[in-house]
Amino acid sequence: MGLSCPVSKPNVILCRDAGELARKAAEQFAALADAAIARLGRFTVALSGGSTPRAVYSLLASTEFSRQIDWPRVHLFWGDERCVPPDHPQSNFRMVQETLLAKIPIPPGNIHRMIGEREPAEAAAAYETELRKFFAVKRGDCPCFDLIFLGLGEDGHTASLFPGTPAPDETKRWVTAVYVEKLQSYRLTLTLPLINAATNVTFLVSGASKAPIVGRIMRAPGADDLPAARVRPANGAPTWMITQEAATSLME
Ligand code: 6PG
Repeated sequence: MGLSCPVSKPNVILCRDAGELARKAAEQFAALADAAIARLGRFTVALSGGSTPRAVYSLLASTEFSRQIDWPRVHLFWGDERCVPPDHPQSNFRMVQETLLAKIPIPPGNIHRMIGEREPAEAAAAYETELRKFFAVKRGDCPCFDLIFLGLGEDGHTASLFPGTPAPDETKRWVTAVYVEKLQSYRLTLTLPLINAATNVTFLVSGASKAPIVGRIMRAPGADDLPAARVRPANGAPTWMITQEAATSLME
């Protein structure tokens, strides 16, 4: 069964199920880590929150993958965070802590947590300062992550760039705090200028409920103004790792 993406060929990797998606994402992480460490001496990655990536992080923590990765040279960041303490059930940090951080030999200084328990605007500014210090980019330049993992919401949000909020239209800041009405809560998120400056961006999408939004975004990637459709990295199209049940609207 082929994919019918009538518009420009996005880089779609169709996965049988969530298990295969996790494996392909873990393989990409390990390969890009190898290459970045060989070239730059380090690997910088921004992790996605939500439920889909849990299996990816658990697989990365497994002996099979963990022993392939030079963790002391890996720097982990977050693409977004809920404005809650790090031990809160909703915390993306806690999710990564449980699935990955507790099981790998990564130095604490390589874990760059968004401070969700801080006042949102202050936390966003603090994270931006941390990025500026870590990447030491020249004024006007944008930090370039080696890899950013992103999820996709049924409403077309990605990271915490929700439609109908100011966050997707932020063009100056690299990190912003946003109040999400429908969630009745604040979020911290990387912005599109930072996401689109990454060397590799990979969407991880599973679940039949995502099929309609996947179809909408894939059929008109250029025309759609949904936040996820505005992820157009200068370094090349994002990779979409999609399970078959989430890709049904793309099938011929
Ligand atoms: C978050 C994520 C968010 C998520 C999507 C998909 O903090 O929740 O950053 O953008 O990736 O909502 O979530 P699922 O993987 O749970 O479907």
